[in-house]
Amino acid sequence: MSVNSFETEVTAKAADSGANASARFAERQAKAGSTGVVDHERVDRLAGKAIKALNDLVIEEQMSYEEYNAFKAWLIKVGEDGEWPLFLDVWLEHSVEEVANADREGSKGTIEGPYYLDGSPELEWNGTIPMRPDEPGTPFVFKGQVKSVSGEPLPGAKLELWHADNLGFYSQFAPGLPEWNLRGTFVANENGEYEIHTIRPAPYQIPTEGACGQLIEAAGWHAWRPAHMHFKVHAPEHMLITSQLYFPGDPHNNDDIASAVKPELMLDPQPNPDAEGEYTVYDFVLDPER
Ligand code: DHB
Ligand code: FE
Repeated sequence: MSVNSFETEVTAKAADSGANASARFAERQAKAGSTGVVDHERVDRLAGKAIKALNDLVIEEQMSYEEYNAFKAWLIKVGEDGEWPLFLDVWLEHSVEEVANADREGSKGTIEGPYYLDGSPELEWNGTIPMRPDEPGTPFVFKGQVKSVSGEPLPGAKLELWHADNLGFYSQFAPGLPEWNLRGTFVANENGEYEIHTIRPAPYQIPTEGACGQLIEAAGWHAWRPAHMHFKVHAPEHMLITSQLYFPGDPHNNDDIASAVKPELMLDPQPNPDAEGEYTVYDFVLDPER
């Protein structure tokens, strides 16, 4: 494949990711339903503080009309490009996650990001994630155990795993990939153990050709997230954990654009003695339901 056709393919795929993320988020919100109850005091407080923060910024930084109009045009473009999920999950979700999970004793979590889908194919505790017959990438075995904070194994725990392919693309958010590629739900065995067969994902660049990319370029930032695998781990009577795990040595572990890396979330991949590729061991510790 020539360099140019590769770039065209990459651009075409990335362009769809933002819009797809908006559509998928809207579907999930509709499914979740709303109580329709508005806490006016809370809205007054949060919206009031947000508006004050922006007004303070204008005054402190002496923002000009030119800058104000550029800001207005950019906000409009974020919506047109369907990039609100991207923008919020990259630059705000990490703080929401920090607040939500501050008093957990078990494993650390991190952001969900825009590419989760529920209902991925259910597989055995030691299954292979759905992938193409010629799926490129280093074969990767992910083993471990789901436990309670007191160290008890949690049989029948479910691990949902989703990750990008070897080019950094997520199925259903980039065209040309099988529907559930690199997405699966693994049911742990009677000891809460799992042994998942997959491939190592590549580092991921958030879509650069829409409004978020425009901001990144204008600010002179970069668009990279380090390579990562996403998880949701569930067990009866325990709190769901949403997490991501990372690979040591990735050039973007220390400057993840989404600020979602934590030292506790680093894997330790080793050459697999039994097969081609690598394996790693990581246990999830779930807090009791409150
Ligand atoms: C984004 C993508 C991810 O894969 C992720 O984990 C977090 C954020 C994004 O493009 O916004
Ligand atoms: Fe991701």
